[in-house]
Amino acid sequence: VSPHPGARVTSTWTIRPIRDGDAAAVAALTGQLGYPVAVDELRSRVRAVAERGGAAILVAADDADRAIGWIHVAMAPLLEESATATIQGLVIDEDHRSAGVGADLVAAAERWARDNGARRLTVRTRTTRRRAHRFYERLGFGEVKRSVVYARDLE
Ligand SMILES: CC(C)(COP(=O)(O)OP(=O)(O)OC[C@H]1O[C@@H](n2cnc3c(N)ncnc32)[C@H](O)[C@@H]1OP(=O)(O)O)[C@@H](O)C(=O)NCCC(=O)NCCS
Repeated sequence: VSPHPGARVTSTWTIRPIRDGDAAAVAALTGQLGYPVAVDELRSRVRAVAERGGAAILVAADDADRAIGWIHVAMAPLLEESATATIQGLVIDEDHRSAGVGADLVAAAERWARDNGARRLTVRTRTTRRRAHRFYERLGFGEVKRSVVYARDLE
């Protein structure tokens, strides 16, 4: 896939499922998303996603086969809604943004979701991620609601 004219980067990329060799690059990207993680821990999270099933982790790899972005898409079996898939996470390397890589990963996630029976794709993004909001709206996503996220540590 080629970047759009005017993009800062001129390299091309391919979309493929994550592999064990991507762990270090994917951990670094996860840090850029705001969730720093050690490579071993990242590896075990990837394994946990794979073992549970019903999800895909795809990477965009540059000419040297280095991961420059990742997306995690999963079927979301819910009582409230049928056939919904969710983008659980998406990040593109800071040096490779605005080239179309993100749009490409979302398109691949959408194909995966359709192939797995989904008729709706959802994504949650922080209210502060204005660029991500513009990005999703350009890709045809519409804002459905705003939520408050609560959490409690379990002893
Ligand atoms: C949001 C994010 C995933 C978008 O990825 P990306 O690869 O930069 O996305 P794209 O290149 O497809 O689109 C981004 C920009 O390129 C431009 N662009 C992309 N494809 C284009 C095309 N074919 N023609 C013209 N312009 C294009 C768009 O104008 C867009 O500009 P903007 O984001 O400044 O409004 C990326 O910015 C990111 O990783 N952000 C930090 C993490 C984050 O917010 N993740 C989402 C949380 S759920």
